[in-house]
Amino acid sequence: MERTFLMIKPDGVRRGLIGTIIARFEAKGFKMIAGKLMTISDELVKKHYYEHEGRPYYNDLTTFMTSGPVFAMVWEGENIIKLARFMMGSTDPEKAAPGTIRGDYATRMNRNVIHGSDSPENAAREINLFFNEDECVARL
Ligand code: TYD
Ligand code: MG
Repeated sequence: MERTFLMIKPDGVRRGLIGTIIARFEAKGFKMIAGKLMTISDELVKKHYYEHEGRPYYNDLTTFMTSGPVFAMVWEGENIIKLARFMMGSTDPEKAAPGTIRGDYATRMNRNVIHGSDSPENAAREINLFFNEDECVARL
């Protein structure tokens, strides 16, 4: 069983998409094992997006991510890292296919509604940044 870190970004929370997005992953057969509504600090967003530091979009990205509450989650399921990314669609909503989360709910790169870990290493790193192990529950 694999774990991933998913986060509904401030635009998704603001637009009332938490329930809709959770429903998609539940319907797929995945299980949420931790979740919380929270505001991210500058320090946390810099750690989370450290790979992007220095990119032209970095300041807009970090400003956006701290502009309002996010819904941070840990999910579990078979092959979930890859499959959740597939369900999210391309980073750029212009390229995200209809039927994907970004394809259905987003129009702009820096307002693309959801984050999902892109590798097992990043999943473990991001889960540890946002959650303590005792916040993750066991689910059958
Ligand atoms: P990235 O990790 O490449 O995409 P993903 O969210 O699909 O893993 O980039 C992180 C976020 O940075 C992305 O969701 C939106 C923002 N971003 C831009 O605003 N412009 C860009 O050109 C890129 C690559 C990302
Ligand atoms: Mg990424």
